[in-house]
Amino acid sequence: MELRSLGPEEASIAARAIRELKPAEELRGNATEELLTAFLEGPSTILVVASDGDAPLGYAVAYELPRADGGSPMIHLYEVQVGDAHRRRRVGSGLVEGVTAEGIRRGAGSMWVLTDDGNRPAMGLYASCGARRTVPDQILFAWRLAGEANA
Ligand SMILES: CC(C)(COP(=O)(O)OP(=O)(O)OC[C@H]1O[C@@H](n2cnc3c(N)ncnc32)[C@H](O)[C@@H]1OP(=O)(O)O)[C@@H](O)C(=O)NCCC(=O)NCCS
Repeated sequence: MELRSLGPEEASIAARAIRELKPAEELRGNATEELLTAFLEGPSTILVVASDGDAPLGYAVAYELPRADGGSPMIHLYEVQVGDAHRRRRVGSGLVEGVTAEGIRRGAGSMWVLTDDGNRPAMGLYASCGARRTVPDQILFAWRLAGEANA
């Protein structure tokens, strides 16, 4: 398995990974190469892909969040997606490690992710990758601003 934190010149790899691995019902638009180029040009975006040769096995999306008080930036691990056929083979662990390494490279001081108690694979993955539930009763509130219901 090869892990790569992608730059804008590798947008076609990102587009293919998202189109092949993200469940159709979760796609909010077209993951085109053009869109992914613009996404990867952003200073705060991180997209790590795990592949076997040309074939994508999984990907992770994260955001570097600068702090207003001058503290070290945080990494928001937003999405980890592993293809059904490749699960339980440490691909997800590799992606989390890849995002962690990218965060360290960028000078971030911490990383966090939101998930659901009922998502056993995700709960197991994050616990096994060294993350801790720091505030056990934390709740997510979301606003609909322009069409999309969820965060
Ligand atoms: C969550 C997900 C990314 C895990 O990817 P993965 O490649 O299968 O995970 P790994 O093989 O690296 O597993 C690492 C550890 O996580 C835990 N884990 C993974 N899948 C699990 C499952 N189905 N049940 C319980 N624990 C699980 C285990 O502790 C595992 O270590 P082990 O295999 O040595 O026991 C994958 O299931 C997935 O893509 N799910 C759909 C998308 C999703 O829910 N993403 C998270 C959103 S917050």
